[in-house]
Amino acid sequence: PAQAEEASFEATLARHDRIEPRDWMPERYRATLVRQIAQHAHSEIIGMQPEGAWITRAPSLRRKAILLAKVQDEAGHGLYLYSACETLGVSRQELTEKLIEGKQKYSSIFNYPTLSYADVGTIGWLVDGAAICNQVPLCRTSYGPYGRAMIRVCKEESFHQRQGFELLATMMRGTDAQRAMVQESVDRFWWPALMMFGPPDADSSHTAQSMAWGIKRDTNDELRQKFVDMTVPQARALGVTLPDPDLVWNDEKGGHDFTQPDWAEFRDVVSGSGPCNAQRVAHRRRAHEDGAWVREAASAFARRQQQEPQQ
Ligand code: ACO
Repeated sequence: PAQAEEASFEATLARHDRIEPRDWMPERYRATLVRQIAQHAHSEIIGMQPEGAWITRAPSLRRKAILLAKVQDEAGHGLYLYSACETLGVSRQELTEKLIEGKQKYSSIFNYPTLSYADVGTIGWLVDGAAICNQVPLCRTSYGPYGRAMIRVCKEESFHQRQGFELLATMMRGTDAQRAMVQESVDRFWWPALMMFGPPDADSSHTAQSMAWGIKRDTNDELRQKFVDMTVPQARALGVTLPDPDLVWNDEKGGHDFTQPDWAEFRDVVSGSGPCNAQRVAHRRRAHEDGAWVREAASAFARRQQQEPQQ
């Protein structure tokens, strides 16, 4: 690259300003963004499955309306993110094909099953809570289209988090069986939620470079700590126990000490052998194939509109 272009890129980062699609950028910066934004977009779309499975079994019309809206929001998040990724010169079609061929990842959390309606609440509270913790700093990420997509995504995620908390709070005011259902769900999701932030910093291959480029603003361990500290008082307010007997406040560090999740399980899930990996990807592939006729019809219609001048 011309030295001037590289200097201008570095100066933009140093000012904490945004890099925009037409600006010069190093190829590795572009590739890192494509990897992270694609993985993020795929997570939103695959994340519709575990909760979508409960739409037909919602316990009331009100819960069904809330869940429908929430799952539709996730589709919207996927679309903003695919659009942000397209500004880097890859098409949504290419990204979708990579997902269904298993060549790009999506968040580990969506490879776990949803076994009861309490899981809808726990996903809102813990999973969307973790997502907010990770995504609020991404509103300041160095790539303009990604940061701007994050602003709207975060507003909707905080609604999702609150609906999850409200669902669990309602169940906790119910019967003993409902309280037990909430506790069982929290016990299952706590460890996978901690894994959402990625491997410990010492094992994270991308963090150092992504921080230097301003793509990430905090490390995986910093965000995990923030999430734990934010969640403990909420668990207390709900009356649920987080399944970690070693979770205690540490005055000296000004945060909680906590047990690390099982990183061997994380590696298995990320490499495709989690409880629901095969099912999630097969479902996405089927939906893509079933939608082929819609894409063909839309393209044929667009071609005809171009050929026939508007009346
Ligand atoms: N699930 C699946 N894969 C993961 C996860 C996870 N929870 N965490 C890390 N990985 C992968 C990385 O993609 C990377 O794999 P690769 O090199 O093959 O691409 C590898 O593990 C090493 O991890 P890191 O070096 O720490 O990767 P990175 O710097 O990208 O940090 C993180 C991971 C924190 C998830 C980052 O990509 C990020 O902030 N992404 C945006 C947020 C996001 O994707 N959220 C989706 C879930 S939230 C929701 O939709 C409700």
